[in-house]
Parts: sequence; C-alpha cells; structure tokens
Amino acid sequence: MDNPALRIRELTGLLNRYAYEYYTLDAPSVPDAEYDTLFRELETLEAARPDLRLPDSPTLRVGGEPLAGFESVRHEVPMLSLSNAFSPQHESGTFDHAEMYTFDGRVRGSLGGRQPEYVVEPKFDGLAVSLLYRSGVLERAATRGDGSVGENVTPNVKTIANVPLRLHGDQVPELIEVRGEVMMLKADFAALNHQQAAAGQKLFANPRNAAAGSLRQLDSRITARRRLHFSAYAIARREGGFAPATHFEELEYLKKLGFSLPEGHYGVFPDIAGALAFYEAMQQQRPKLPYEIDGMVVKVNSLAEQQKLGFISRAPRWAVAHKFPAEEALTVVEAIDVQVGRTGAVTPVARLQPVFVGGVTVTNATLHNEGETQRKDVRVGDTVVVRRAGDVIPEVVRVVLERRPMSEAAAVSDGLQGDMFAGPSESRSEPVYPPYCLPRHCPICGSGIEREEDEAVARCSGGMLCRAQRAQGLIHFASRKAMDIEGLGQRQIEQLVAQDWVKHFADLYRLDIPTLQQMKENADKSETQPENGGETLSDGRKNGKKQPPVKWAENILAGIEASKQPELARFLFALGIRHVGERTAKSLAQAFGTLETVRRVPEPLLACLPDIGTVVAHSIARFFAQTGQQAMIDELLAAGVSPKSQPVTLLVSQYAQPQKWLARLSGYKTSETRAAALWDLAGRSMAGLINDNALPAQWQQWRSRPENLALLHSIEAFLNGMPSENPNTVSDGPAALAGKTFVLTGTLPTLKRDEAQALIEAAGGKVSGSVSKKTDYVVAGEAAGSKLEKAQALGVAVLDEAQLKALLDSGK
Ligand code: IVH
Repeated sequence: MDNPALRIRELTGLLNRYAYEYYTLDAPSVPDAEYDTLFRELETLEAARPDLRLPDSPTLRVGGEPLAGFESVRHEVPMLSLSNAFSPQHESGTFDHAEMYTFDGRVRGSLGGRQPEYVVEPKFDGLAVSLLYRSGVLERAATRGDGSVGENVTPNVKTIANVPLRLHGDQVPELIEVRGEVMMLKADFAALNHQQAAAGQKLFANPRNAAAGSLRQLDSRITARRRLHFSAYAIARREGGFAPATHFEELEYLKKLGFSLPEGHYGVFPDIAGALAFYEAMQQQRPKLPYEIDGMVVKVNSLAEQQKLGFISRAPRWAVAHKFPAEEALTVVEAIDVQVGRTGAVTPVARLQPVFVGGVTVTNATLHNEGETQRKDVRVGDTVVVRRAGDVIPEVVRVVLERRPMSEAAAVSDGLQGDMFAGPSESRSEPVYPPYCLPRHCPICGSGIEREEDEAVARCSGGMLCRAQRAQGLIHFASRKAMDIEGLGQRQIEQLVAQDWVKHFADLYRLDIPTLQQMKENADKSETQPENGGETLSDGRKNGKKQPPVKWAENILAGIEASKQPELARFLFALGIRHVGERTAKSLAQAFGTLETVRRVPEPLLACLPDIGTVVAHSIARFFAQTGQQAMIDELLAAGVSPKSQPVTLLVSQYAQPQKWLARLSGYKTSETRAAALWDLAGRSMAGLINDNALPAQWQQWRSRPENLALLHSIEAFLNGMPSENPNTVSDGPAALAGKTFVLTGTLPTLKRDEAQALIEAAGGKVSGSVSKKTDYVVAGEAAGSKLEKAQALGVAVLDEAQLKALLDSGK
C-alpha cells in the first residue's frame, strides 16, 4: 500500500477491533500471530511517519518515556465514596441483613414509600479511575486522589488492554467521563508475584496493592508489562450520544461503547430481597471469581430516583457498599504440629486460638510446608493473619512481627526476675520461640521424614509401614492398572485398614469370609451407633439368625485370588514405589524380566534406562534397599503371589554402555566422554576398573571407598548375570522395527535423544544422522529444523514422540 496515512488508519482500526474481541469480548477472531504481524507493520509505518500516528493507536499501549511527575487533575464531577453496610454471618451460614433493611427502609421513605428497583454489582477491590473521552477518543485518565483532585495517569491507563482507546458503535457521545475500577486479576497477580520472587524482588501483599503500584508508575512501560484490567461502573457526565434513564441502561450503554463489565455478576432486582439473594449467591462464588471483590454495591436503578435521593456528606444516599465478611482475621499460634497425609506428605499445621473468620470458627491453619513456614517465619506464640476464603483450607498469611513474644534472653534462661537483674542487655531481647523446623521422624510411624532436592514437600518414608499411608497404598495396590483386584474397593480397604485387619499387602491374601464379615459388622456398628446404640445387625445376621456367607465377601476373595499371577510390570507398579508409574514399571520389566532381578539392580544401571533419570533410579534403589520393603515383598511371595517373568527385550548392552553408567556413579563426577576414556584405559574390562592401579587418581580414590568397590563388584556380578542376546531379535524372529531407519530431530517432550535412540535400537531399528530417501521415519520434536523440512520434501513419514512410543509399543 503506497498511502501510509490510509494504511495506518486501517491498521489502527483493525488492531483495536482485534484487541477488543480478545480482551473485552474474550472471543478473538484472528490468531495471535496475525495480530502480531499487523502490529509490527503499524509500528514500522509509525516509526517512519510519527506525524501520522493516531491518538488511539494501539502502539500507545506499550507505554512511553517516563514522566517527571504526575500532573494534577481537578474532577469536574467529584469522585465520591460509598457508605458501608455489613451482614454478620452466623456459624450456621445464615446472614443478618438488618443494616441492609435499614438502608432499604430509608430509601423507600425518601421516595414516598415507592418500591425502587436495585442494581447489584461487584464492589471491586482495586482503585477508581475516571476516563475522559472527547469525540470518542480517550483524552485523559485520572486517579481518584482525594475525590476532588487526582493524578493524570493517561499514558499508564492507555497500556491497559481492555480500556478502549476509541469508543465503539453508532452512539458515541461528543464527551463522556467514565468511572470504573482498575484492578489486577487474581491469575495475573499470582503470575506477577511468581515473577517477582524469581527475580528476588519484593512481593505484593494483594492484587489491590499490585494494581495501585502498577498504575502509579512514572514509567508507563512498566505499567504495560503488568497486566491490569478495567471494569466500568458509572457515567459521571456526558454530552450527546444516548441518554440512559436507569443505571442498568447506563451499564448496557457502556458495554456498547466498548467497555468491559463483570458479565453475569451484576443484575437488576425488583426489591431488596432479590438484591440480598444475589449478594449471598455472589459470596458463595467469591473465591472462584477471577478478581477480588470485598462486597457488592447496591444502587437504586432509576436515575430520576437517584437524583431525588441525592447525597449526604461525600456519599450517595441511593447506593451502599454491602461488604462481605472479612476473609482475614488476627489470632495467636498456640502450637505447630505436623500432619501426615495419605500420600505421606508431611504438612506443618498451626494450632490457633479459635477465631471467627470467613463465616466459621477456625482453630487450625495449614502452613503448607517447612520452606513456606520458614519464609513466613511463623513461630509458636506469634500473632498471625489467618485467611479463610470460601471452602478453602484456612491458611496463615503472615506474622505480625510487632506482636511476637520476646524475652530478655539472659533473665529468662536463668529463670530470674527480669526487672531485678535487667542490665544493659535489656534491649537485646530475643524471640521466645526459635524458627520452625520439621521434626526428623514421622509422628505416626517413626520412620524418617525425607525431602527430595527441588521439592517443597517432605514425606514420611514409611510407605505401607506408616498407618497414615496404608489405605492409600492398598487402594493403589488393588487398583485396575496395578493388581486389578476386582470387588475390593476403596471403602472396604479403608475399613480393613481402620480396623487393623490389613497392615501389609500380604495381609490381603490371608483374608477369609469370617474376617470380612466381622469387618463389615464393625463398620456398620460404628456408622449407626449414634442413632440406635449399635443394635443394627449386619447383612450376615438379619433378624438375629446367621445367614449363609454373603456373596460380596466371596466376590472379594475371588478377586484377590485371581490377582495372584500379575504381569511383572503391574506388580512393580502396584508396589507404589515413588516416581514409578506404569511406563517406568514396564521399562523395568522389559529390561530385567524377573522380580528377583529387579530387586537387586545396582542404581547406576537403573539410571541408564530410557525413561528413568537419576531421581527415579534413586527412588527405586532406595525402596529396594529398605529391609522392611524387601520383607514385605517376601511376604507377598510367601502368600502365593507370583509375578510372571518375561523375556528380557531391552538388553543391558543396549542402554547401559560402560561410559553411561560410569557417568552416573554417585560421588564420582565425570562426563560420558571422560568415562569412555577411563573405560579404554581400564582395558574395557570390569577387572581393569576394579584392579588396575595405573588408572587416574580420581578414579582410584573413588574406588578406594569400600562401599564404592562393593558397588563395582555388584555391577560386575549383575552384568554377568544378564542375557547378552535379545530374544526379540534372535529367537522370536524379526524385531518390530528391524531394518527401519530413523532420524531424530528437535527436542522431544519427555525422551532425551539418547533414550529415544536406545528404545529404537532395542526394538531393532537404526538411528541415522541425516535424512535421505532411505529414511523410514523422522521423529520430530520442538524446534525441529532443516531435517524436518527435508523429510517433508522427500515425503518421509514424520512422527512425534507419542507416535514413536505407539510404534514401539505396537511391536511388543
Ligand atoms: S460507585 C457515587 N461502583 O468503591 C458512587 N464504586 O467507596 C461511587 N468501587 O472509590 C462509586 N466497585 O473505587 C462504585 N461497582 C462499583 C464499585 C465501586 C468498587 C469503589 C470505587 C470507589 C469506592 C467507593
């Protein structure tokens, strides 16, 4: 296009429409890339001809040069405040709306007894701004300030994506001043704080503070990077355009002009009862809303009636802010205990002095984990802010440090009267309680509490040995993808565990009908006891007479019996080893063939398997290193469980080449290249690695530790015991991918390149470095480059990781 002015006008219009569809209507009509391309074209044109930039150009949204300070703006129509009304909530959940009935009574009184309609809308927890549009173009934006004079924040407000830079529709007034709230949506707030934390910067206390801090930036480019949101709620003045008769019409008009309104969260009601019902419904929804609100605003709908009602001091008599009960309150931490969850997760819990917050009395609050507790520095005796929003678990938000109990160190530790011996150290008082630390042992089973690197959550390592984790472990064990015990559901397992009939997996295989019946009887009794004193009889003894054994118990026993010969992978999955999912269990089964072998694989070899990294390998090795777990497996075998063996289809020579496992030895830091050199020096033999005294000093030093030498011996013994030929390729005829050539390109979502290669080769395929007509498949991941293009040009089949895995699985 050779007329830049025309093209600039066209692009400005198009981009503003797309932004409106995206940010206000939430219904984009073009892909993001199209927007970006047009945006860049406009930027280029404007850079060449700055004089042609339009006042509503979307390029203004990225912010401009920093200001020296904000100019003052006098509000033509003052920005008033609202009076508040509260509805205390009882423990039962019901509200006391007396203050609202008083408001309604006063309004009706002033209207000569007439019943007004009410509009109810969210009371946003952000900050009020006033936007002035002349001839449809945003001319000036100002903060509320003291209500009469605010600050000019126009460049900043222009960066807010859902503020129209030019008004829409065919009823655009000559002049309009729109009032509304600038806020930060909860999701954007969370992302911002996440970013702040990653950059080691101060966190914002809440979305309101974040919005205020972002809007009041002298550098509007910073505002542009913070995602703010604007919701309109009133027209302060207007010349021309459409003349609404009610507040609701005013809101609909604002919507037509291109403003965002809280869709579905406002409405018009015939009387105060309707308004209150809506308030209660919104309070329920509050935690799920995308923005923070601290109540609902109730406004008389008719503008004529509003005028009649007028103002008292600085608030309208026709509106009221109907606040929600506070979600936060102050209380004192009496103790910090830990809770062990069903998955073994250990969570510190603050025991609190009871406090009424968010409609209920709270006595406990989660502290999430040790790191979080230390970051917030919550200690016994502290006064804390607790928060309970909706149905979520109450949490400790922060400590009020000024109220932390302090002791004069020397006097207290000596047990002496502080004021008698108060010397110069009096001002050096110390917190009475030390910073919080998790206990080292599980309060339930005494097993060690462990935390993996990079993980926030600590866990009890007891597994099935810990009462808290037993039910969960058994539910997993019996589940469809594990041992697949039909008839044994979550409920029965929970009852068996609660009554201590089942403590280990093997106990399941010792169950009999009388035990199951007894279990059910006890369970029924404890469920019905409060009502009838426990006289209910179980299914098995209706009318006091013994009935024949019931079918349900027989079914459970049959299901248990039928599970005794599981496939090896299912059995391994059923054990509930941390990080061992179905896929890993399958890899283990393919690589080792029998349970006896899996039980003694040295950790460095595990870490070489495709799909298994060092964390998973460590978790598996740690599991089998525990005598308690090995005993549990022995008991299962003794109880008649016998996992099926299978041929080894993944040869140790295919995945665990010496340089690979050498590079994965714990405590011996080396690369695969250097490990390959070491292997060469050792004469490519285990004997050399173990005995050669001419090897590099670092190796000899590592080897000199008895446990490391023992590990080498166990690796040697293990490797000697593993088959060296792949039955898949030798005895079972051609492997699934025999003769097929693969090329790998780009980054695959889960498999590393060498893992993918090992999997392909294990299935008989070949991996080559370049694409040709002879290539059978190209496996392409993220950022695949020229190889992918070449494959497409040559018509070679292209697979993604999932398709590769499917192909590999199809051959099994
Ligand atoms: S109407 C004269 N509507 O509440 C009427 N205000 O206490 C004045 N606010 O500064 C405002 N949501 O920041 C109105 N839906 C809403 C509101 C709302 C939040 C804030 C506004 C104002 C304060 C008044």
